[in-house]
Amino acid sequence: MASSEIPTCRWGIITTGLISSWFVDDLVLPRPDAKARHVIQAIGTSSLDKARAFAAKHLALAATQPALYASYDEVYADPDVDCVYIGTPHGFHKRDCLAAIAAGKNVLCEKAFTLNAREAREVFDAARAKGVYVAEAMWLRHRPMVADLRRLLYGEGGGPKAIGDVFRATADFQMYIDMKALPATSRYKNLELGAGSLLDIGIYSLTWGILMLDPQPPSAPEDPKIMAAQSFVDGIEVTTSVILQYPSSGRQGLILSTTERRGAKPGVIVTIDGTDGFVEVQGNVPSHPEAFTVYPKWEDGADKPQGKRYDYKQAAQGFIYEADNTALDLAAGRKESSIMPWSETIRVMEIMDEIRRQGGTKYPQDE
Ligand SMILES: NC(=O)c1ccc[n+]([C@@H]2O[C@H](COP(=O)([O-])OP(=O)(O)OC[C@H]3O[C@@H](n4cnc5c(N)ncnc54)[C@H](OP(=O)(O)O)[C@@H]3O)[C@@H](O)[C@H]2O)c1
Repeated sequence: MASSEIPTCRWGIITTGLISSWFVDDLVLPRPDAKARHVIQAIGTSSLDKARAFAAKHLALAATQPALYASYDEVYADPDVDCVYIGTPHGFHKRDCLAAIAAGKNVLCEKAFTLNAREAREVFDAARAKGVYVAEAMWLRHRPMVADLRRLLYGEGGGPKAIGDVFRATADFQMYIDMKALPATSRYKNLELGAGSLLDIGIYSLTWGILMLDPQPPSAPEDPKIMAAQSFVDGIEVTTSVILQYPSSGRQGLILSTTERRGAKPGVIVTIDGTDGFVEVQGNVPSHPEAFTVYPKWEDGADKPQGKRYDYKQAAQGFIYEADNTALDLAAGRKESSIMPWSETIRVMEIMDEIRRQGGTKYPQDE
């Protein structure tokens, strides 16, 4: 398809923080296989100096330069912005989504979508009433690797199941954060901003568990039983461990996150066990998978069997997939993402609400 035939999405980027820089870096990379054209139309931030520095660092090679605003509201009011990308700390997602929706903007909002399921419902109700598109930017779900792996595991389309019947998945997100060195205002320490490993990184382990263990279509997603524990340093949750158990199949997920230790990079970030073999997913952390290897059954007393490796490493980090899919959704007039529909965001938030209820994390916004 010629590039003139693919849809164009003009983005309004909210914040100049880390995730906004990663998102923008990916979008401006030239790609021969792009399904959409992305224009960074506007940047909204707390100061014009930050906006200028961000544009100079991340958009120097872009074909067009964005409008720079020292507020978020000016981005929402800009008629040339098709979709707002929200990269504030998750404690502000509800506020920022509602403001963008009130201005009639479509929204792609970072994870965790909100702090709890109640806030998520509020945002989707507002989007429904206003008739705009809203989606959670859970980029992992948009990676082609994930769809390929599910097809291999579950034999979608009538193919064989690569490792027999899946009975377990383990995902562990490890990231060291030196809490003592951070100011009290940091999003990693401030409960109002959503501090805690679960919403920050455990959500990826949970997503892997759901993606690998959920009953496959056409049956509806099933709510797993949840057993959870959380540990705290100075009132902030730093380690979460969860067992998911699916009632119909007995499949178990071991869902782990901690900000107390660094993991091997690259290393095995997810394992999936089946009755006839196993899969190891390699990458730096569960949000950045790069490859997976499918192994046959490891026979007792034998060396580790030879596996078949599938590589997905590329120049971009991987935000292009969610961005392309958002642009395609908007071009088609859809209000929800089929990959991350509203019901699924609410389901994930409800699971995390229950994990926090059992583990003891409470945010001021839960009241
Ligand atoms: N998808 C992923 O892999 C991924 C990775 C990292 C983070 N995230 C998500 O993205 C969101 C932001 O994370 P981040 O790591 O980019 O955070 P960050 O680097 O701290 O940036 C957050 C930005 O939000 C704005 N902001 C407004 N009020 C703030 C406040 N009171 N405290 C701190 N920042 C404030 C600031 O931008 P301005 O001054 O420019 O307005 C700040 O630069 C979080 O929800 C996080 O879960 C996603």
